[in-house]
Amino acid sequence: MAMQIKHYLQFNDLTRDEYVYLFERTRRIKEQFKAYQTYHPLHDRTLVMIFEKASTRTRLSFEAGMQQLGGSAIYLNTRDSQLGRGEPVEDAAQVISRMSDVVMIRTFEQEIIERFAAHSRVPVINGLTNEYHPCQIMADIYTFIEQRGCIKGKTVAWIGDSNNVCNTWLQAAEVLDFNVHVSTPPGYEVEPERAGLYGTDHYEEFPDPMEAARGADLVTTDVWTSMGFEAENEERMKDFADWQVDGDMMRVAAKDALFMHCLPAHRGEEVAAEVIDGPHSVVWDEAENRLHVQKALMEYLLLGKIEG
Ligand code: CP
Ligand code: NVA
Repeated sequence: MAMQIKHYLQFNDLTRDEYVYLFERTRRIKEQFKAYQTYHPLHDRTLVMIFEKASTRTRLSFEAGMQQLGGSAIYLNTRDSQLGRGEPVEDAAQVISRMSDVVMIRTFEQEIIERFAAHSRVPVINGLTNEYHPCQIMADIYTFIEQRGCIKGKTVAWIGDSNNVCNTWLQAAEVLDFNVHVSTPPGYEVEPERAGLYGTDHYEEFPDPMEAARGADLVTTDVWTSMGFEAENEERMKDFADWQVDGDMMRVAAKDALFMHCLPAHRGEEVAAEVIDGPHSVVWDEAENRLHVQKALMEYLLLGKIEG
C-alpha cells in the first residue's frame, strides 16, 4: 500500500512524539556527518526548492542537506520560472511533483503553499511563509535541547514583531509544552487565529519587553521588518525603537539564558551587538542546525521512521 503523503506546512503538522523522534534522528545524523560517515538514504531522490523571497540559510541547508543524503536539489525562483508569469500554483504543483520526490517552498501567504500541497503528489515543506517558519523553530528547539536539555516547562521570551517566526514559536509551545512571554509594540500584537493556535494557555503578553525577558531561559527576536513588508519599514523603525534586545535585557533573564536569532540580523536595531556577539548567543549553532534537522525531516517525510 502506498504511504500517505505527509506535508510539513506548519509546526503543528507533527506531533510531540514525532518531534522526539526527529530530534533523536537529528542528533544521530549530525554525529555521523561530523565523523565524515557517508549516509545516502535518499540516493537518486530529487528535491525541488521554490523561492519567491530571498534566502541564504534555507537554500544552502536544504541544497547541501539533500546532497549529503545522496540526492540532488533543483533551485527555482519566481524571476526566471513560469511561476512569476502567472501559472496557477495548482498547475505548477501537478507538474513539479511529477518530476521530483519532495518540494520545499518559500513564499508569501500560507494559502499559496497549502494550495500547492493540495495538488502535490509528493511531500511539501514550508521554507517560510508570511505566517510561519517551522524549519527554523525545529532547528531552534533542537539547539536549545543540545545546550540545555528538555524545553518542556521552560520560558522563551519573544521580543519584537509578532511575525512568522513568533507565530511558529507559539505553535511549538503548544506542541512541546513550554511557555512564551511575548512583548510587541502596540498595534503589532499576536493574532491567535493567524498564528494557528488552539488557545492562549502557552503564552502571555507583556507591554514592557523587560518584563517579558525577566527570568526567561531563552530570549529571542527577529528583524523589525520581514520580507514582503518593506513598505512599512520607516514606520516600524520608530514603533520598535524600544524593543531592542540589549545587555540590560539579557541581565534580567535567567543567568544561563540563551540568545537566539534566526538571522539575518540587524545589529543596533532588534539586537545590540554586545548580545548577538556575546556569551549568551548561540546563533551560529542555531544556523548550522538548520542543516541537521532538515536532513532528519526529509528522511522522515520520504522514508518514514528508520529503525535502530
Ligand atoms: N533564517 C533563515 O531562514 O535565513 P534565510 O532567509 O537566509 O534562509
Ligand atoms: N521574519 C523574517 C525571517 C527571515 C528568515 C522574514 O520573514 O523576513
